[in-house]
Parts: sequence; C-alpha cells; structure tokens
Amino acid sequence: MPTIHSHISDLRAALQTYRVAQRIALVPTMGNLHDGHLELVKIAKQHADIVVVSIFVNPTQFGIGEDFDSYPRTLDEDVAKLATVGADYVFAPTIDEMYPLLPPPTTILAGAITKQLCGKTRPTHFDGVGIVVSKLFNIVQPDVAIFGQKDYQQLAIIKQLVRDLSYPIEIIGAPIIRAADGLALSSRNQYLSASERRIAPILQQELQYLAKQIGAVQQPLDVLLSASRERITSAGFIIDYLEVKTTELTAVNDESIHNHQGLVILVAAWLGRARLLDNLLVTIGKVR
Ligand code: PAF
Repeated sequence: MPTIHSHISDLRAALQTYRVAQRIALVPTMGNLHDGHLELVKIAKQHADIVVVSIFVNPTQFGIGEDFDSYPRTLDEDVAKLATVGADYVFAPTIDEMYPLLPPPTTILAGAITKQLCGKTRPTHFDGVGIVVSKLFNIVQPDVAIFGQKDYQQLAIIKQLVRDLSYPIEIIGAPIIRAADGLALSSRNQYLSASERRIAPILQQELQYLAKQIGAVQQPLDVLLSASRERITSAGFIIDYLEVKTTELTAVNDESIHNHQGLVILVAAWLGRARLLDNLLVTIGKVR
C-alpha cells in the first residue's frame, strides 16, 4: 500500500531520504482514479524509483457554477487502486494545507495559450491549474512529472510553465487511454446516462474521420469543420469548440497547414452533464 501524507512537511521529510540517489516522479491527479491514471503511474515507474501521486480536488481551477462540490471524491478506492500499480506515496492535502489564503493572492498567469480552446469558456481554469501544479512541483520537487495528453492544452501550458520558471523537471505526456468503444477515459464520464454513454464515442469517431479528411487535404478546413460540427451537434452534443491547431497550439489555415508536419484536432463538447474532451494528432497524409 502507498504511504499517505496530507501534510506538506511530512511528505517532504519522507522524500528527503531518496533525493540524493533516486529519481522521484510526480503524477498529479484530482482522484477518482481510472485506468488512464493508473497508466500514468506505470509510465512514472519506468522513469523513476519513487512515485508520488497527488490527489487534490483543486478549488482554484473550478469556475463559479462548475462541478467542484459534486466532483467525485473516492480516496480509499483510489489508494487501493494505486497499490495495484506500485505507487509509493499518496499526497492528499486539505484545502487549508494547500491554500493558507483562498483565493491565493499570488497568481500564475500563463498568457495567450490559456485564452483559447478551454480557456474561452473556462477563463480562470488554467490560472488555477498553474498555481496548483507550481505548488505541487515545489512540494514534491520531482525529477519527472507525468500528465495525460487528453488534457492537451493543460499539458502544453505545463511545458511552458516549466520552461518559463526553469523548473528542473522533465514533463512526460502520456497517450490517451480509451474504452473499447473509443471514448477517452475521464472521471467525468460517470456523469453520462446509459444512453449518453452509448452516444459518447461518436466524438472520437468524428475526430478519426476528420483526421483522414484533413490528411487528404481535399476540402477547405472550415468546410470540413462545419460539417463535423453539424454531425456532432445532431448526435446530441453541445459543442464548446472543435478546432485544428499546430501541435504547439498555434492557428492554422488552408495555406499554412502545408507548412506543418504535426497538427492536433481538439474538441470539447457537452453531453448531458458531462463536458467531454478529446483530441487526435494528425500528420498531413496520415493519422497518428
Ligand atoms: O488534470 C488534472 O487532473 C488536474 O488539472 C491537475 C493537473 C491534477 C491539477 O489539479
């Protein structure tokens, strides 16, 4: 079983003994762990000797009216799952432990990259992610940290944060883990009703289809995207965004698309109570 700490000082003291000779990995999570999270731990174990998993439903990344109160909190089950993949430590702090003052007067603003995609409808979300991840980095001081590629924009922001603030931490993006029918695993999938759950994989199917069309470069991007948006909407989703970007999340158009080897199609859409996120990497000519 992993050792659980809820105080920063206790975790730091426990990790101190390993620092000199061993590599420490951090897997930041908000708990309610599924196979996707366990995969992050498995990857962490390949890159480090000691794996710390943080479990903290971070209030600063939830906007007003979002699901902070109802977000599933399942610490005992989470710890049992983490034992099966060999996590060494769980850091599960209280809100007071993490935030002596809430909201914290010190902010981390990651700039333009946070203003697009999810940032348009969740304008304070990435500021909250920035501060909590910075704090976790300072608390754990890992050699390596693992984040899922499902939250593609979050991963890009964290890479930027590490670069800009000179954190001596290697960031590893882990591939999306999907259910057998293609739906990207997410703690929020449990908000789906049985009938919505049957519809949900359409999002991934549409990304695959779109990727092939973009790869073939036969139709203008906006024509492809509006046809896709229409199909997703008719299936019952309310689209937040469906966009094609470079892998660095800069804009592309029909002219510039040829200059980029790697593209990413990103989607966020509501299905009932669940806001589903997905993305797919594409190279012109083939789907990755
Ligand atoms: O991806 C998440 O679960 C969260 O945004 C993170 C990185 C753990 C920060 O709270």
